[in-house]
Amino acid sequence: MENPFYLSGIIPERWFCDREKETEWLTKTLVNGANVLLSSPRRMGKTQLIYHLFQQPEIRDNYYCFYTDIFPTSSLQELVLFLGKEICSTLVPKGKSALDKFLSAIRSLSGSFTYDPVSGSPSFDVKLGDIHSPMLTIEEIFAYLEGAGKPCIFAIDEFQQIAAYPEKNVEALLRSYIQKMNNCRFVFAGSNRHVLERMFNSAAKPFYNSAQQLYLDRIPEETYIAFAVKAFRESGRNILPESVSYIYRMFDGHTYYVHNILHNAIAYLGPGKTVDSADTDRLLSDILDEKGQTYAGMMNQLNYQQKEVIVAIARERKAKAITSVAFIKKHSLKSPSSVQYAVAQLLEQQLITYENEGRNKVFSLTDRFMQEWIRKVY
Ligand SMILES: Nc1ncnc2c1ncn2[C@@H]1O[C@H](COP(=O)(O)OP(=O)(O)OP(=O)(O)O)[C@@H](O)[C@H]1O
Ligand SMILES: [Mg+2]
Repeated sequence: MENPFYLSGIIPERWFCDREKETEWLTKTLVNGANVLLSSPRRMGKTQLIYHLFQQPEIRDNYYCFYTDIFPTSSLQELVLFLGKEICSTLVPKGKSALDKFLSAIRSLSGSFTYDPVSGSPSFDVKLGDIHSPMLTIEEIFAYLEGAGKPCIFAIDEFQQIAAYPEKNVEALLRSYIQKMNNCRFVFAGSNRHVLERMFNSAAKPFYNSAQQLYLDRIPEETYIAFAVKAFRESGRNILPESVSYIYRMFDGHTYYVHNILHNAIAYLGPGKTVDSADTDRLLSDILDEKGQTYAGMMNQLNYQQKEVIVAIARERKAKAITSVAFIKKHSLKSPSSVQYAVAQLLEQQLITYENEGRNKVFSLTDRFMQEWIRKVY
């Protein structure tokens, strides 16, 4: 039986939940010619939203849509490789002439293409070591996109990675190409709020003001409950709306975590049963048992101060005014400055994240299962 709560891969349209407003806004903004910065906490649904966007008839029928996740990359060479590979794999199903057009545009690598002995068609099995002049190749890639024969949308996920490349001025270089393009729109996506805000919102940085911004929030509770109840019904099962609400609130509507519990409810509980909150507690407890080792290892890497602070944030789930006297007293912490220092380190390691509520920062754990595990163990 198909599990309607997909945890990975591309979600079939039928089991894609909501995001109607966001999809409409993205479509309109890109069609009107702007680039977009799409950010959210990890596992809220950015990547799935991009795939969904690419399925919209207005986009699908008129654009070449490219998507690459550059999280693994740490140099311009790798960026070139990832962009090139993605363009090829998108063009292959479009036929020989589309692919040939790209390959002939990338002259700097032509020595590295291999040719199919039967059809004689070239293929892009370039290796990192083949990319001797990434600056030149990237220029060729952008020139190709500009003249691709069809408008393009290029989504680059985990875009903040480029800020850590060792080559100088990568941001400025990319910005200068992207700024000049008429045929290709970009979706820059990422979850590292810290770095992305620095890249796009500080006047001294090349990408300052260069994209319309969408901060992807949680799916509204009512919408998610309706989706979940229907998904259960169509799988021949039942769940109480208040049990969905209970899970939704426990994870503050964080898509992946709510989804994971419901996925397991479908996978492990028999069809005869109406899933209630006791069931979901048990399912969560199983997940925490399974992940406990990993979380214990992660805690083990932290110093005492960092531990105290992460435990305090997990206890609150949404921690506000964390350097206030009240917060420090409540959680027996040392001092505002020691909290501040630990928070900076935890943010750097992406163990915690924050959202802006008015002028205040509200902190929470990046991994909501780790949050519940800490609440249980500490
Ligand atoms: N609209 C949606 N409908 C159904 N499930 C969703 C939706 N959005 C997200 N999910 C669930 O949440 C998971 C995480 O989504 P996704 O990978 O898009 O998040 P992300 O923001 O890109 O995360 P990361 O920052 O870790 O890359 C999906 O695999 C799926 O289980
Ligand atoms: Mg993603």
